[in-house]
Amino acid sequence: MSSSRSTNTVAHGVCLAQGKLGAGLGESGHGPPPALKGVQYLPRQFDFQPRQTLNLNETQADKNKFQVGDLVLLIDRKERRYMITLVEGEMYHCHLGQLSHDKIIGNNIGGWFRTDKGHILLGISPTLGDFVRQMPRGPQIVYPKDLGNIINFADIFPGATVIEGGLGSGALTSALLRAVGNTGKVINYEIDEAVLPKALRNIERINSDTSNLEVKIANIYDGISERNVDRVVLDVPEPWQALAGIGDALVMGGIMLSFVPTIIQVQKLVLAMEEDGRFQMIESMETLLRTWHVTERSVRPDHRMIAHSGFLTTAVRCDPKPYGRVQPPRDELEESSQESDELEVETTGGDEEE
Ligand SMILES: C[S@@+](CC[C@H](N)C(=O)[O-])C[C@H]1O[C@@H](n2cnc3c(N)ncnc32)[C@H](O)[C@@H]1O
Repeated sequence: MSSSRSTNTVAHGVCLAQGKLGAGLGESGHGPPPALKGVQYLPRQFDFQPRQTLNLNETQADKNKFQVGDLVLLIDRKERRYMITLVEGEMYHCHLGQLSHDKIIGNNIGGWFRTDKGHILLGISPTLGDFVRQMPRGPQIVYPKDLGNIINFADIFPGATVIEGGLGSGALTSALLRAVGNTGKVINYEIDEAVLPKALRNIERINSDTSNLEVKIANIYDGISERNVDRVVLDVPEPWQALAGIGDALVMGGIMLSFVPTIIQVQKLVLAMEEDGRFQMIESMETLLRTWHVTERSVRPDHRMIAHSGFLTTAVRCDPKPYGRVQPPRDELEESSQESDELEVETTGGDEEE
């Protein structure tokens, strides 16, 4: 069924203060393994020349310090979290007292800051996961525990063109933008224009460059106009309704991933994919993440966890099976049942015994 709704496009390109996110989000300080040949980490025997013109101490000092425009996650002694964006001359107020932003600007990331009531707060740069947990929400976000697996199982890579269904509060969009990098593109189909202001503001706050984000006000169930896209990622309630369009849009071998909260939705989607025929390697999964409490006297799982958020279903765009849903020839059936007997025990290692 197609709708007469017109498709509006919001090409998006708002940059945050240069370099402000890098300090806390991408730089663990460990660097990539030498095999990646990241210039900064090349061992000396590979003829690495430090740049003489730079005052290395000064450069390093900047990376260690909070700057105007930076996001700061303030954490109190009960591990409660408060997130602010640094603005010169502003004052942060909470039940623990007031803290001037100017006291944080120019001081260490990872430093301790005292409110006027004498409470001490730790100030760090939020990760993407920290940010989405604290950010203002409209529609339900994808939790950090699922964001990582979505990027992994949808195999989102730098340079990829990704169609996303549902902008919501912008949590998943932010993770996708980061994973495709500035050579990739995220094209989002969102049916409800009202979610845009909050979502785009969230996305701008955590992504230093959003010029590769396009938002279309459109119903993704009505089809996808792009072709040869690398990946499709959905967080919409009836993903099976989008399948026809996804099959047309995806490049051969491209991956689709759907996030839905109930297993009934998963089943409906999987059955629809089988019916469509163009999706193979269909897998459904969920992520249970349990953190641990570790002290000298007690080592145990934390009492609280997010027990349920949703299910991921992935599939690869392929040619339809030659025999569709009809039974394959008898000899093929026999062959495949023999193979499945042999494969029943799966090994975890790569080395096969002869
Ligand atoms: C659960 S929210 C997405 C949350 C988002 N993934 C995040 O992490 O913040 C679902 C979004 O999909 C949108 N939506 C629902 N049906 C849609 C459709 N058929 N086409 C496009 N967007 C749709 C809703 O308006 C809503 O904003």
